[in-house]
Amino acid sequence: MEKIRMGVVGLGHRGRNMFKLAAEAFPDYVIPAAACDLITANWTDTKFQQTKSMAEQFPETVFYTDFHTMLKEANLDAILIETGADIHAQFCADSLMAGVNVLSDIPVVATIEEADMLWKVHKECKNVMFSTGANSNTTRYSRMMRELYNAGYLGKPYYMEAEYVTGQHWEDNLYRKVDPLTENGDWRKLLSPIRYCTHSLGPFLAFVPEDLRKVSCFGTGPQAPIEEYGGFPKDDVQTAQFQTDSGVVIKLLRTGRCRAKIGSHNYRVFGTEGYFESESERGKRGQVMRYNSTKYYPASELLEQEGGYMPYECIHNPAAAGHGGADYVLLDDFIKALLTGGEPPISLKEGLRMTLPGIYAEMSAKQGGELLEIRYPWDNE
Ligand SMILES: NC(=O)c1ccc[n+]([C@@H]2O[C@H](COP(=O)([O-])OP(=O)(O)OC[C@H]3O[C@@H](n4cnc5c(N)ncnc54)[C@H](O)[C@@H]3O)[C@@H](O)[C@H]2O)c1
Repeated sequence: MEKIRMGVVGLGHRGRNMFKLAAEAFPDYVIPAAACDLITANWTDTKFQQTKSMAEQFPETVFYTDFHTMLKEANLDAILIETGADIHAQFCADSLMAGVNVLSDIPVVATIEEADMLWKVHKECKNVMFSTGANSNTTRYSRMMRELYNAGYLGKPYYMEAEYVTGQHWEDNLYRKVDPLTENGDWRKLLSPIRYCTHSLGPFLAFVPEDLRKVSCFGTGPQAPIEEYGGFPKDDVQTAQFQTDSGVVIKLLRTGRCRAKIGSHNYRVFGTEGYFESESERGKRGQVMRYNSTKYYPASELLEQEGGYMPYECIHNPAAAGHGGADYVLLDDFIKALLTGGEPPISLKEGLRMTLPGIYAEMSAKQGGELLEIRYPWDNE
């Protein structure tokens, strides 16, 4: 393949920005062939803080309101799945079965049954690539912890914790209506905070080889007047503890409604030879990373350096955009893999390893924190 005929389904703020980035940052390799949304106005009207409509920006691109018609007619090589967070799996499966390579946004699936279905379809479509759009895994802090681990500076990680602290999926978009999302954005009302866990678990699972096996999760319940939840009361905070078979523990905090005016992502890794943390913005201070190691003399005491999303290799690349360049790297890796016939940068298995624990955590929270065993589609293979 020399040039990729790229399509997108879902033109909310995420889908349009990813499609635009793919077309504009990789003009030598990507043809923005087709786009699809149920809402025609998402193509024809100026929306989501863009200054021109998508139709004006991409006059050569064919717009569809029906996904299957696009799959049949647009002769796509690859597709970005950017529908709501609870409806990815069927779009992914149908694309794979149509021979179209997939880059799916996260979380990958919404139910255990969808995970089984997608795993089965993926195995039947061996020559078609599925890659998970886990941009958290391409961030600077994610790379840093992976590199420290690979160098042996952390030893064996035995306890990790992550926090994704944001009101974004709750109040900014849906209730305050600063920039209202699409009419089909129900997932923002319905999704339990803990289900949006891939940004937090993904960076850890990139170097923890074992699957997460057990989970117990608690929620705080809603902490504002119930009528403020628009008929869909959710926990303001949920925390889950996961454990692998060998006893590695990961704690995850996710917010639904959040009053903390701090940055979003925090990570800590406790290893037998060292420690790493990435701390989000606090007031005037930006993101920082800190680490120490018994295996690296300069870090025998805690070292501190600038953190953030921007992957190091993007610092001098003006085309690198989207979450500080993390989205650019995600697309770059996907495009390179397609052009060279390489392995998917973040496989379906990796995507499910970081998605399914959130689904089980939500079930545990609904059962008052009951300890549940996490099952994966590959367990009996
Ligand atoms: N990786 C990240 O950093 C990141 C950031 C934001 C959002 N996301 C993910 O990106 C996805 C999209 O997020 P968003 O905020 O743009 O959501 P959104 O709800 O605003 O947009 C989804 C779009 O999909 C369209 N859609 C739904 N069903 C469709 C169908 N059958 N056919 C065609 N179009 C259909 C909707 O009309 C809507 O325009 C979500 O899965 C979310 O989890 C990821």
